[in-house]
Amino acid sequence: MIITQATLQDMDGVFAILRANHVSNVPEEEKKNGFVTTNLTEEQMKALIEKENGVTIAKDDDGKVVAFALAASWEFWSEWPLFAYMIEELPKFTCEGETLTVENSYQYGPVCIDKSVRGTGVFEKVFFASLANYADKYPYMATFINQINPRSYAAHTRKALMTEAGTFQFNNNNYYMMVCPTTPVEER
Ligand SMILES: CC(C)(COP(=O)(O)OP(=O)(O)OC[C@H]1O[C@@H](n2cnc3c(N)ncnc32)[C@H](O)[C@@H]1OP(=O)(O)O)[C@@H](O)C(=O)NCCC(=O)NCCS
Repeated sequence: MIITQATLQDMDGVFAILRANHVSNVPEEEKKNGFVTTNLTEEQMKALIEKENGVTIAKDDDGKVVAFALAASWEFWSEWPLFAYMIEELPKFTCEGETLTVENSYQYGPVCIDKSVRGTGVFEKVFFASLANYADKYPYMATFINQINPRSYAAHTRKALMTEAGTFQFNNNNYYMMVCPTTPVEER
């Protein structure tokens, strides 16, 4: 398994996993194992790869993309209504006692792990590689988790050491605001 930052050649593989895990394609009985709601156009994904270097992927030994984590500045995400709302809400939340801002934090997610490699440690590898990729730019990372996605909440709190900074609602959905420092205390 290789963990790396995606290039444009990886875009089809990333989109295949994104589509498979999008709420519109996940059967009701599978939703407890997670789903994502964020969609990107090809143009947005291209910009995310080229301008933000914000796509971390895992590739299996055959070179197939089996997992990805997206991450970018709040400015990049601001055209999505949910992220625009999160930007407004940021001052209500803290990490390590510091109020979150668009300058001291960025937004990670969505993250998707192909069914074939869930529960194998790939999630942790992709998560921490994505975090390290941004550690010198921002002290804090933030994301949302839909309250009806218990698998994602369990993975991020137990394996990625993220904590819940509070909750918010948007479009009749209930979300956790999740945060973490990009550099663990013992490494500062
Ligand atoms: C969410 C996701 C990224 C987690 O990666 P993963 O490889 O499945 O994570 P793991 O299996 O290592 O860890 C998940 C933990 O949740 C637990 N879990 C599984 N199903 C659960 C459920 N329905 N409720 C609560 N916990 C659950 C597992 O037991 C495991 O914990 P454990 O190893 O301590 O037992 C992955 O499942 C995924 O891509 N899902 C679809 C897309 C998605 O939801 N993305 C996140 C959007 S915020």
